[in-house]
Amino acid sequence: MKIVLGPSSRLLGERIAELTGFGKVPVVLRIFPDGESYVRLEGSVKDEHVAIVQTTCSPQDSNLMQLAFLANAAKRNEARKVTAVVPYLAYARQDKMFLEGENVSIETIADMLKAAGIDEIITVNIHAENALRHFLFPAKSMSAISLLAEYFVGKGCEEAFALAPDKGALYIAEQAKAVLGGESGNLEKHRDRYTGQTTQTGKHLNVKGKTVIIFDDIISTGGTIVGAARILKEKGAERVFTACVHGLLIGDAEKRILDAGVEEIVSTDSVPGKNSKVSLAPLLSEALKAL
Ligand code: R5P
Repeated sequence: MKIVLGPSSRLLGERIAELTGFGKVPVVLRIFPDGESYVRLEGSVKDEHVAIVQTTCSPQDSNLMQLAFLANAAKRNEARKVTAVVPYLAYARQDKMFLEGENVSIETIADMLKAAGIDEIITVNIHAENALRHFLFPAKSMSAISLLAEYFVGKGCEEAFALAPDKGALYIAEQAKAVLGGESGNLEKHRDRYTGQTTQTGKHLNVKGKTVIIFDDIISTGGTIVGAARILKEKGAERVFTACVHGLLIGDAEKRILDAGVEEIVSTDSVPGKNSKVSLAPLLSEALKAL
């Protein structure tokens, strides 16, 4: 296998190549004055199974197009098989029609990637597993929650309370609890589909005097974590941390979260940034070695 170092995940691709011992294929990227992308593979992929490592966080449309172009380049240059390793998969949140008149974004993305020549896809903590059924080729989502929880064990936070900010993320808190060895629980979150407004409650939560880590798949505007942190503080939590797989952290999200009393934000390199303290390289390397 060869690892294609997609421009949005070059460092992660390098780490995967190092851990697996697979050869690397660097990529030349140019952005034209009008914003269009140009890519070129700098190495032979003839008869190879290639893994293109390319996350699709912001600018997601450019990153998606570059992924599609790289797949096309791999197939045009006679790669035998193309596996896309897309740590953060954009548009996965719109995995069904929630309201009449909507589209299913991830279905379009899946069709586009297939047309570009991708034969299989590996992603990480996709927002809803349901999104995977739109891919007409093998698609799997791996979980990075144990890696995040291990980071906190390394900080001496064993036995911390693993909290999900909504019921949908309870499975995430439970995976963290399996590593941390403490308790787990969830808040209730309701989203108005028309206004987008959310409300959170935590009626039966007992966190007084405890260290709590709020685990989620995505932190976007930070509103969910800010709301959760406020509830935790009201209920007497002693220390509050937060961890997510995909730290989009739009605008002043980081500041708002820290201002709400959260001591530290930890995310993975699915979205490279200053909070991505946990690398997905070990998880993705194992997945690629098993193919
Ligand atoms: C939603 O269900 C997700 O799991 C996250 O909780 C959500 O995307 C976070 O968004 P924000 O940071 O904007 O509250």
